[in-house]
Amino acid sequence: MRPLGTAVATSFLSTLLLFLHLTASFPSNDMSNLSNCNHNLSCGALTDISYPFTGAQRPPDCGPQEFQLKCNIVDSVTTLMFKSLPYRVTRVNQTSQTLRLSRSDFYDDLPCTHLSNSTTFDNDIFSLGSNNENLTLFYGCKNLGDFFEEKFKFSFVEDKFKFSCPMPGGSEEEGFFKVGDHPPMNSTCHASFQVPFLRSRAQQLQAEGSSLLGEVLKEGFDVRYSDPYSADCQKCSKHSGRQCGFDVKPICICNDHLCPVKSSNRKRLIIGVTLASGAVLVIFVGCWILVVKQVKKRKSALVQSQGLPAVTPTSSNGLATSTNFFRATPSLANLKSDLDKGSTYLGVRVFSYNELEEATNCFDSSKELGDGGFGTVYYG
Ligand SMILES: *[C@@H]1O[C@H](CO)[C@@H](O)[C@H](O)[C@H]1NC(C)=O
Ligand SMILES: *[C@@H]1O[C@H](CO)[C@@H](O)[C@H](O)[C@H]1NC(C)=O
Ligand SMILES: *[C@@H]1O[C@H](CO)[C@@H](O)[C@H](O)[C@H]1NC(C)=O
Ligand SMILES: *[C@@H]1O[C@H](CO)[C@@H](O)[C@H](O)[C@H]1NC(C)=O
Ligand SMILES: *[C@@H]1O[C@H](CO)[C@@H](O)[C@H](O)[C@H]1NC(C)=O
Ligand SMILES: *[C@@H]1O[C@H](CO)[C@@H](O)[C@H](O)[C@H]1NC(C)=O
Repeated sequence: MRPLGTAVATSFLSTLLLFLHLTASFPSNDMSNLSNCNHNLSCGALTDISYPFTGAQRPPDCGPQEFQLKCNIVDSVTTLMFKSLPYRVTRVNQTSQTLRLSRSDFYDDLPCTHLSNSTTFDNDIFSLGSNNENLTLFYGCKNLGDFFEEKFKFSFVEDKFKFSCPMPGGSEEEGFFKVGDHPPMNSTCHASFQVPFLRSRAQQLQAEGSSLLGEVLKEGFDVRYSDPYSADCQKCSKHSGRQCGFDVKPICICNDHLCPVKSSNRKRLIIGVTLASGAVLVIFVGCWILVVKQVKKRKSALVQSQGLPAVTPTSSNGLATSTNFFRATPSLANLKSDLDKGSTYLGVRVFSYNELEEATNCFDSSKELGDGGFGTVYYG
């Protein structure tokens, strides 16, 4: 019985090890950059920026994709993309979870731009701070100078709110701005959009007009952010030395590896392993009982065929274990050792249990040839 038991135990163990290995190594990406997640991001005036932001010294796997910043090495300008539009990041406060942003498209020739998209931050992650005010900008306007004609429509357009932008080909187009919201005026201006700015500048801008407009636009506006995965990160980083990361889902990094799987996953693993071992044990015991039963039948058959006094097993229902059985019948104990050696018995080839087991595939019923008076006959 021992060789069979060893074989089963070995295959069971190797299956278990393979299972453990597969479970432990998920997700199995190239994590060679994870060791850098303990670095902070520094770019120009921005210093010591940590999770959830990534960029520069912090590889992309160190935080959610929405918080990916780009640091231009040449001019140390940090950029955040939102809804496909680039924004300059001039301040990050990770305590109040706010960013100060300004539109990158304004920087070449303020307040002129080739983009006429309104700035909106309105999702679960980014939202406009409550300290902003709206600015409505109009571009490509006709007849703004003709104050008489447009008198009623543009009564609010004082000269100080007007500006001009260069056009391709050397000409100029006129524009103006208004503090606050204003509906588009398609017939007069071909483009208009809204941009937030700091409310603290509203009065000054209203008083000084377009001479201050460039500065105010450059200064930008505040945006609040919230990391939807912060609960996972808190769970991870309450253990010292652990870093939060992100790879499709939140990950927890120990040094340069994923931290070992814990709690619910581990529980599930243990339950799975227990069930699997239980199943293997049931199969093993079942097979063993079958073997014992068959061996008993075979033995009485062998003994009878050699003209020896038939030894009737003390219990023919097959429930007695083989050890009890052999201990109870000393003459059969000798027979057992002979059978184990696979020797001949009175000139007849006697197969060992193991050989019989192997030949009949653990007494597989598909290998049965027939059921005789001396036991079941197998093919093998
Ligand atoms: C990274 O910055 C945080 C503050 O944001 C600071 O507590 C931490 O010590 C910094 N880590 C390193 C490695 O500089
Ligand atoms: C590791 O990060 C660097 C830049 O931070 C990048 O160039 C490189 O491709 C990354 N390697 C892997 C395997 O992700
Ligand atoms: C910006 O606006 C233009 C039209 O004014 C539009 O074609 C483009 O898709 C917009 N871009 C984004 C990122 O919304
Ligand atoms: C960040 O915000 C907190 C809370 O609003 C404030 O106390 C702190 O002064 C701010 N830090 C900087 C550098 O502005
Ligand atoms: C600014 O305009 C947006 C729409 O473009 C609007 O949702 C927001 O409430 C306005 N903010 C203020 C302070 O008026
Ligand atoms: C102006 O154009 C916008 C789209 O660009 C349109 O939704 C709006 O109805 C137009 N307004 C008028 C008064 O024509």
